Amino acid sequence: MVFRSQLSGVKRRLLAMGTVLVLSIGVAVETTAVSHAAVTGPCDIYASGGTPCVAAHSTTRALYGAYNGSLYQVRRASDNATSDIGVLSAGGFANAAAQDSFCANTTCVITVIYDQSGRGNSLTQAPAGGAAGGPDNLANAVAAPTFLSGHKAYGVFVAPGTGYRNDHTSGIATGDQAEGEYAIFDGTHFGGACCFDYGNAETNNNDTGNGHMEAIYFGNSTVWGTGSGTGPWIMADLENGLFSGQNTKLNAGDPTINHRYTTAMVKGTANLWAIRGGDAQSGSVSTFYSGARPSVSGYNPMHKEGAIILGIGGDNSKSSSGTFYEGVMTSGYPSDATENSVQANIVAAGYSSSSGSGGLTPGNTISLRATTACCTSDYLRHDDADTKVVISAISSGSSATDKADSTWIVRNGLANSSCVSFESANVPGQYLRHYNYELYTAGDDGTSIFAQDATFCPKAGNNGQGSSFQSVNFPTKYIRHYSYTVYIASNGGTNAWDSTNFWSDDTSWVVSAPWA
Ligand code: AHR
Repeated sequence: MVFRSQLSGVKRRLLAMGTVLVLSIGVAVETTAVSHAAVTGPCDIYASGGTPCVAAHSTTRALYGAYNGSLYQVRRASDNATSDIGVLSAGGFANAAAQDSFCANTTCVITVIYDQSGRGNSLTQAPAGGAAGGPDNLANAVAAPTFLSGHKAYGVFVAPGTGYRNDHTSGIATGDQAEGEYAIFDGTHFGGACCFDYGNAETNNNDTGNGHMEAIYFGNSTVWGTGSGTGPWIMADLENGLFSGQNTKLNAGDPTINHRYTTAMVKGTANLWAIRGGDAQSGSVSTFYSGARPSVSGYNPMHKEGAIILGIGGDNSKSSSGTFYEGVMTSGYPSDATENSVQANIVAAGYSSSSGSGGLTPGNTISLRATTACCTSDYLRHDDADTKVVISAISSGSSATDKADSTWIVRNGLANSSCVSFESANVPGQYLRHYNYELYTAGDDGTSIFAQDATFCPKAGNNGQGSSFQSVNFPTKYIRHYSYTVYIASNGGTNAWDSTNFWSDDTSWVVSAPWA
């Protein structure tokens, strides 16, 4: 048989251990994309508190319940065409599928992050500044995939050299005027150089002196201020200094904070400012500093200029890194109560690096992570040397090929549209199928047997984590990894991979944000 003969010459990587791992996911495949529109967005909450948003940026969701416009613009490499990416519905999540379609078979960068406040304070490619030339790089549009309540979206991945800015704003605080700011960052993606910031900065791209900035900083720079532990920390970039408390250097009240999704807040008014933060996936925000302005000359009163930066320092220092999902700037000093409500809204948005059952919506691009204790960094992928399907460790440092090999497009099940099939993201037309109970990638030959062999019905994860995928034509068998190769396996049987050891773990997978 063709697959057997292919196998005979193949180097069989990965044989050693008994495997297993699993994840839990929801039971059913969502066949309708419920937009989960937020009736109230963060900016509605700020407005109710008397401190309205004057800038609202997000590539993942609407920040007003009524917002129904574009979130951001992407430009593709193939023909330099641009496309605005909007929301699934008013107040809802980003239409990531529109980006995926526009950017198919090429690469895209994020060219504009639109201001949802109506003030025109959108962010575009940052120009050169006093510290570094420009224009800065634009973010790879697919480098920060995420999910919100099961809906795929993309954040803004800031690699060193990347930066966005608006030097001609409307309504942003100047001088000593009051403002509030929050942003959601990936707490696991940061740098120690200057300066991954979001917020208020100079309008001429130069360091114009103490107090001419008031931006949220996130990272583990130790040049100016530090907090407790080794970082990263939320600090305020007030120009010529990152402040973790009243003055630079150590302020132990500012903790290391590295939640996968981190809420970071900075606010300032006349001789008063604060740092607050928390886990954007759960719980409340805490106050890490609230008190007087720095005693060093220049910071009281402040000299804010009202430009907006993302990913860079005020003078275009652009050596750090981070990931931004959403953020706003307000007019007025928001109360803690208002910010607490905003945090609740953020938590309710459901940021996650795993999709939940919603990730199995046909058309979504996903990766499947093993859950067995041995292998929780391993993902189901095809092998470039042949058509075998294996698991191997994938990380942000993996090659583009390895990431693409572990990325799959969810399709309506070829044999049963209530179930799913998985098409390779980088070899279009190749589906996961079993043959002699082992998984391979292969082209659809139009036969009924192919359709059945390539159709799997998602169930709740057999080990209580993630999802398990039942073979439609061998219902006792589920997609399983065993000795790092992937099969369909029953819980006990004649094949080695039917082993009951670790069966429930090896047959459970977390539907995760796509690696490519
Ligand atoms: O305040 C820290 C940094 O110092 C600012 O972001 C930059 O403008 C200057 O280099």
